[in-house]
Amino acid sequence: MAFNQMTAQEAAEIIHNGATIGLSGFTAPGTPKAITEALAAKAVREHEAGRPFKVNMFTGASTSDHVDGVLARANAYNMRAPYQNVPDLRKRINAHDCHYFDRHLSEMAQEVRYGTYGPIDFAIIEAADITPDGEIVLGCGVGNVPTYAMLAKKIFIELNAKLPKSLLGMHDIYMPLDPPRRREIPIYAANDRVGSPVLKVDPAKIVGIVHTDSYDCVKPFTAPDEISNQIGRNVVNFLVGEYKSGRLPKEFLPLQSGVGNVANAVLYDLGESKELPNFMMYTEVIQDAVLELLKKGKCTFASTCSMTFSDQTEEKLFADMGFFHDKILMRPAEISNNPEVIRRIGVIAMNTALEADLFGSVNSTHVLGTKMMNGIGGSGDFTRNAYISIFSCPSITKGGAISNIVPMVAHPDHSEHSVDILVTDQGIADLRHKDPVERAYEIINNCAHPMYREMLTDYLKRGAGQTPHSLKAAFEFHNAFNETGDMRNADLGKYF
Ligand code: COA
Repeated sequence: MAFNQMTAQEAAEIIHNGATIGLSGFTAPGTPKAITEALAAKAVREHEAGRPFKVNMFTGASTSDHVDGVLARANAYNMRAPYQNVPDLRKRINAHDCHYFDRHLSEMAQEVRYGTYGPIDFAIIEAADITPDGEIVLGCGVGNVPTYAMLAKKIFIELNAKLPKSLLGMHDIYMPLDPPRRREIPIYAANDRVGSPVLKVDPAKIVGIVHTDSYDCVKPFTAPDEISNQIGRNVVNFLVGEYKSGRLPKEFLPLQSGVGNVANAVLYDLGESKELPNFMMYTEVIQDAVLELLKKGKCTFASTCSMTFSDQTEEKLFADMGFFHDKILMRPAEISNNPEVIRRIGVIAMNTALEADLFGSVNSTHVLGTKMMNGIGGSGDFTRNAYISIFSCPSITKGGAISNIVPMVAHPDHSEHSVDILVTDQGIADLRHKDPVERAYEIINNCAHPMYREMLTDYLKRGAGQTPHSLKAAFEFHNAFNETGDMRNADLGKYF
C-alpha cells in the first residue's frame, strides 16, 4: 500500500479540538517531533481567533520540548498522562490549566485498553522504517505505542531519516492478554526476547507520513558534582557489601536505575568497581553511562523501554550498531516495568527521592507536598516489586535551607513498607528488618545532615506510638520553610 505523504501542518489540520492522541516513545527518544509542533502553532492560531483548542495527550512517559514544551506554552492540553518533566508544563499543571494524571507507567496501557481513558482518536508514531503492509521499525523509545496504535482510529507516521534502518531487531513488541485471560509473561532473564521486532499496525488506518530528520535532542549530562559522586560511591559500597556477604547471588542481579545525574554517577561507579561482577540491566531508561558500560563489557545486556542518550551518544551508537545491536532490547512500558517480571528476575531498583522521612517513606513527586515536580513515573513499578529497593537523595538542598530527611514526608509516594535502603551523601541506612524506632535512628545517624540530626532526634523522642509521630508537629520543618525560607527555623517546642 502506498501511503499518503504530507507535511506536519497538513497532519495538524486533521486533528480536531478535544481529540485524544497517543504518542510513541518514552522520554524524548521515540517521541514524534514535528506534528506536535504544528499542532501547537494551530492551537495558538485558534486561540487568537477566539476558538477553543485543547487536546488530551497520552504518552509513554516524559517527552521533550517538541511535545510538552510547545503544547504547554500554547495552553493546548486539556488532559495529560502518565508522566512529564518539562518546566512549562509543570507550570500549567500547578496552575490548573491542564488536568494531569500521573500514573504508574506499567499500568497506563492496560487502563487505556480497559477504556477508562475513553477512545483514542489519533496515534502519532515515530519510525525508522515502514513496510507497505504496516510493519514499523520504531525509533529509540517504545512507551505505550502498541496499545495506542491498536486503538487509534487514525495513525500518522513521522519517518525520521536520522534513525538507521538497522534498528530493526532492537525492539521486542509484546502485548499481554488482558484479565482474566492473561498468561505469564515469559521473560525469565533480562535478555529473553518474547515479542516481535516490528510494530504491526493496520495500514488502512495510516492517514499520512511526515518526513523528519532529527536526533532525539537529549541534553548531554553535566559532570556529576561531589554530592552525586558521594551518593554513587555509597550505593556501590552497599552493593559490594551485599555481594561479599552472599546476600546477592554469585551471578549478581539485574539493575534498574532512574534518570538524572545521580543515577548516571552510580552507573559510572559500578563500571569502575572491580569487586562486582558483570551485570545485566532490566530498566525503563538507559542513559549515556550504560553505553560505555556495554562497550567495556561490564554491563552485558540492557533491557529497556528507551535509549535516553544524548545526541552525541546516539551518534556513537548509530555509528557502531554492529557492536550494540544484540546487547540492547527495547520493550513496551508495560513489559519493561512489569511487576511480575521485576519480582521474578529479582531486579535491584535504584531511584531518587525529593525527601524521605524518619521511618523510610519517600516523596518523589510533590515539592513541599503541594507542587507537582514530574510524577511517580516508573519508580513505583520497580520499588514495590524489587529484590532490594534503594532510594537516594542529597542530605540537604538549597544550601541547607531544606533537609531532605524530614519527620514526615509531605506527600507519600513510596511507603516505608517498600523502601529497603536509603542513601545520601552522608551514608547508607539499611532499613530492612528494623522496627520504626530502629529505622529512625539508622536514618538520623547515617543519612541526615549533621546540622539537622538534633532536631530530628528531638522530634522522634517527643512522638508517641510504635511509629513515634506527633501529628501536630509532623510538618513543622515544611511550615518553617514556607514561612521563613529555612527549615532550620523549625520550632518543635511550640507543639509540646
Ligand atoms: N523540597 C523542596 N525542593 C526540593 C527538595 C525538597 N525536599 N529536593 C529537591 N528539591 C528541588 C531542588 O532544589 C531542585 O530545584 P531547582 O530546580 O530550583 O534547582 C529540584 O527540586 C530538583 O531537584 P534535583 O535534586 O535536581 O532532582 P533530580 O533531578 O535528582 O530529580 C526527582 C529528583 C525525585 C524529582 C526525580 O528523580 C523524579 O522525578 N523522580 C520520579 C520519577 C522516577 O523516579 N522515575 C523512575 C525512574 S526513571
